[in-house]
Amino acid sequence: MAERIHDQIPTQRPHFGSEEICAIREVLDSRWTGRGGYVDQFETEIKNRVGVEHVIAVQSGTAALHLALEACIELGVAKPGDEVLVPTQTFAATPQAIINAGLTPVFCDIERSTLNLDPDDAKKRITPDTKIILPVHYRGEPCNMDEILAIAQEYNLWTIEDAAHAFGSTYHGKPVGSLGHITCFSFDHIKNVTAIEGGAVATNIKKVADIKLEDPVFATTCPI
Ligand SMILES: Cc1ncc(COP(=O)(O)O)c(C=O)c1O
Repeated sequence: MAERIHDQIPTQRPHFGSEEICAIREVLDSRWTGRGGYVDQFETEIKNRVGVEHVIAVQSGTAALHLALEACIELGVAKPGDEVLVPTQTFAATPQAIINAGLTPVFCDIERSTLNLDPDDAKKRITPDTKIILPVHYRGEPCNMDEILAIAQEYNLWTIEDAAHAFGSTYHGKPVGSLGHITCFSFDHIKNVTAIEGGAVATNIKKVADIKLEDPVFATTCPI
């Protein structure tokens, strides 16, 4: 087994230096290992970095997507069964979150050049039941947000961006996370910034951030 590991090319090996180890020790020593000052600080740093008004740290990128979709239902943007446009090229968590929220994924083609959601194909799949467009900034490369936001505006859709790979990416100079209605980040162990496991919901919409996360509907995807 050990020999086999040595044969592999470590393309996604996380790197931790002494700063991270000191920070982890500080958290453990403080005993504030759940929600508390360190999580507030993490949320504030994401807010400042992304240039967004509200950030809620959660357990994973999957939880962030699930919460964002549940928030849309809670606010009457979508009702169970409504359709969410999503690219075929993504990780299973994206459609899984849509299904877990009781919504229907509608798979759209991807662009050959970027492997991201093809806005023209997405537009063709819009029906009266389509309420959300969920682009994925695959490999950190931002989607064609000019066209996606234009489609969202024309058809009165909300945009939820799966930015699991895209913390730190920019689109026309603007940070990913500041573009659409809600953006979801992942900080799992192979992402460009990691909290070992973790995620965040970012939004400028106060009523999204104000939803009471202790409501039973959110119980399975608790914020940290
Ligand atoms: C595109 C995409 N969306 C969502 C997720 C889910 O993130 P997490 O593993 O933090 O739940 C991932 C994880 O790899 C991902 O690649």
